[in-house]
Amino acid sequence: ATKTLTRRSQTRRGASVVVYASQDDGFKVAVLGAAGGIGQSLSLLLKMNPMISELALYDVGQIVKGVAVDLSHCNTASTVNGFCGNEELGEALKGCDLVIIPAGVPRKPGMTRDDLFSINAGIVRDLTQGVADHCPNAVVAIISNPVNSTVPIACEVMKQNGKFDKRKILGVTTLDIVRSDEFVSTLKGLDVNDVDVPVIGGHAGITILPLLSQTFPQTSFSEKETEDLTIRIQNAGTEVVEAKAGGGSATLSMAYAAARMGEAILRGLSGESDVYECSYVSSDIVPDMPFFATKCKLGKEGVEEVSPIGDITAYEQEWLDKLKPELKAQIDKGISFIADAP
Ligand code: NAI
Repeated sequence: ATKTLTRRSQTRRGASVVVYASQDDGFKVAVLGAAGGIGQSLSLLLKMNPMISELALYDVGQIVKGVAVDLSHCNTASTVNGFCGNEELGEALKGCDLVIIPAGVPRKPGMTRDDLFSINAGIVRDLTQGVADHCPNAVVAIISNPVNSTVPIACEVMKQNGKFDKRKILGVTTLDIVRSDEFVSTLKGLDVNDVDVPVIGGHAGITILPLLSQTFPQTSFSEKETEDLTIRIQNAGTEVVEAKAGGGSATLSMAYAAARMGEAILRGLSGESDVYECSYVSSDIVPDMPFFATKCKLGKEGVEEVSPIGDITAYEQEWLDKLKPELKAQIDKGISFIADAP
């Protein structure tokens, strides 16, 4: 979709935001799993995004209709509609430019993200089938865990439908970057608006690899700081799961991160240049790793370029060697869930 931009404004983070003349010029965005902890907060943040003209909130829980009515009273440019159950999925997805998927069960204390596979794999499979049927050209941003496996699942479903375009399917790892930026800026007394730490690999435990040596602005860390930060970033999700003590996992910080990723995708689609975010995508940037998170350039068709890892330290290389077999196993698990299905 080519959109006519009428003015630009600066965000607090210095990013240029496109603001449209009328709501007819904006994007249609669907949130699948919109009644959940992430889904509701994310929908609120998206309702405040001036690039969006139409918001479709979909869930299997009936309350999604009420969530949509509630949000529709906010006096921002977009219209909001609620859709419930499989028979309304098509209507929610029709004409979408971006589909964000936080549907599925979250972790409880003691669980790994992989423990969610048995339930969430099928949910992501079915929702991606909906995308293939109703909006195959939309960019799909997947939040549902285990992201390391659900993104390969979504890609396999699109392949089976003859609709696969690797530029359009992204795993949302933005929360790992948000956390890294926050922890590093606090530790080093830096302006949080400036700090950018690339996080590569995947989105679970040791597959999360923050490249502290590539922190912008250039920052030095002692060996102990590097070790402590790396491990804290890898376990930050578990920090929230334990603090919520059975009440779920990160929802508010996740919604914030997904809103940032969603905005970056829409800015790319609108034709802005120089939009970059780390994301978990299909790529051949790392040998033998069909999916990997690194910095991606976002453009008119989705992921336009996947950046190489760049120079890393011996410490980071050690983690990279360690994470590869684990990530590969989680990728293979996702692929065979679809490819080997009877
Ligand atoms: P939640 O349980 O609060 O909400 C999930 C929502 O999905 C519920 O409203 C439920 O009705 C809905 N749902 C279930 N099956 C569905 C289907 N077939 N179609 C549409 N909607 C469906 O869970 P929460 O906390 O919002 O987490 C959602 C997912 O996000 C979990 O898998 C969690 O692990 C993941 N997550 C991912 C993060 C990331 O960094 N990528 C960070 C935090 C959570």
